[in-house]
Amino acid sequence: MSDFNNLPAHVWPRNACRQEDGVVTVAGVPLPEIAEEYGTPVFVLDEDDFRSRCRDMALAFGGGENVHYASKAFLTKAVARWVDEEGLCLDVASLGELQVALAAGFPATRITAHGNNKGVDFLRTCVRNGVGHVVIDSSQELELLDLVAAQEGYIQDVLIRVKPGIEAHTHEFIATAHEDQKFGFSLASGSAFAAAIAAVRAENLRLVGLHCHVGSQVFDAEGFSLAAERVLGLWARLHKELPAEAAAELGILDLGGGYGVPYTEDQSPLDIAGIATALQEKVASKARDLGLVAPRVLVEPGRALVAPSMVTVYEVGTVKDVHITDDSTRRYIAVDGGMSDNIRTALYQAEYDARLVNRFSGEDDQQAPLTDTRIVGSHCEAGDILIENAALPNDIATGDFIALAATGAYCYPMSSRYNMFGRPPVVTVRNGNTKLMVRRETIEDLMSLEVE
Ligand code: LLP
Repeated sequence: MSDFNNLPAHVWPRNACRQEDGVVTVAGVPLPEIAEEYGTPVFVLDEDDFRSRCRDMALAFGGGENVHYASKAFLTKAVARWVDEEGLCLDVASLGELQVALAAGFPATRITAHGNNKGVDFLRTCVRNGVGHVVIDSSQELELLDLVAAQEGYIQDVLIRVKPGIEAHTHEFIATAHEDQKFGFSLASGSAFAAAIAAVRAENLRLVGLHCHVGSQVFDAEGFSLAAERVLGLWARLHKELPAEAAAELGILDLGGGYGVPYTEDQSPLDIAGIATALQEKVASKARDLGLVAPRVLVEPGRALVAPSMVTVYEVGTVKDVHITDDSTRRYIAVDGGMSDNIRTALYQAEYDARLVNRFSGEDDQQAPLTDTRIVGSHCEAGDILIENAALPNDIATGDFIALAATGAYCYPMSSRYNMFGRPPVVTVRNGNTKLMVRRETIEDLMSLEVE
């Protein structure tokens, strides 16, 4: 870490900066002020950063109608409205996410529904509200959706989720295109082809395209390209073997999400615009070779749109120098949140960038010396770690505020109430103003579910 006082711009929100007095602001609002007003831990979301990433993504993929924000990354009604205002579409992966989107007034026709085990209530809610596409993940679901659509007197547009058999270079738990995992129909075994034929034959379904998703936090652009190529192979076969009328409906190739984001200073951002152009060219040229009209390429980014827009601010509590061996110690800095607001380090060995946000480290422009540090939470568990190992200045002290950057995706949605910690609030910032988006969960909230 070269200069701890310098915020790496590719990791922090676009509107973050360190003022001359050392205080870090996001969208013109000093983070210590937010910490004082709303308490810590607190998630701070830079609205303009999120909106600008939505616009960049839409531009890269030829328009918002081709970009479905994967709402599992972070969803509130306000976020759904922002996505709508920016002209993007939405991907939901559960009945709950669909209900939030509908409650926000998000147009159902621009929603895609995912899930490997969608229940009848989820499917019925999709059909009743006229959800744009349901992505079929199993034979049972295909039959159930056909039945539900028949009962509702509706023809539902569907995509078939294809498992293209690719080993994405990411954590095992978030790789989804190899054979031995739960999502979709295998391309190699022929089950994806069979499912597509079954969807065409189903009276109340209309097969409008194919879907795949290679995994999440993927940096290897080859993975996206190879997946597109393989799914296009199936698309071409369907064109050959389906009656012309059914083949003509196959207008969509949904390539899922997964675009990796830099979490630490040494990671570089992906060139998403470049990847988008390459993918679209590949699809167009393959279609040309086959003499077919190219399908529309859809994508479903979650992390790339929201991860960099948010930071989590914590107050530093205890600081301990822990003996490891006779000649080594490690400093443990405990903050007032932990694995309940960010499980990603414990679950995926995720890495984060942490900075002091209430002042400069050191004195007279001289940053304090660095020391091996682990940032841990306040939960009653040794695995409650936010940053495993970082070289941090040795002057971080009790009462300081530190913030972890790029916590916008999969932190709040995967938060828990472990040890009866209420979930932190989410505060949005824009043009020097703050707005409370989600309030802090109180102990009364937690106890309110108990019925005796
Ligand atoms: N589309 C589908 C079908 C997906 O399953 C996912 C993510 C996405 C899109 C969005 O992927 P993204 O662009 O956000 O990478 N909890 C994990 C990530 C799990 C991702 C699950 N599916 C994490 O914290 O890293």
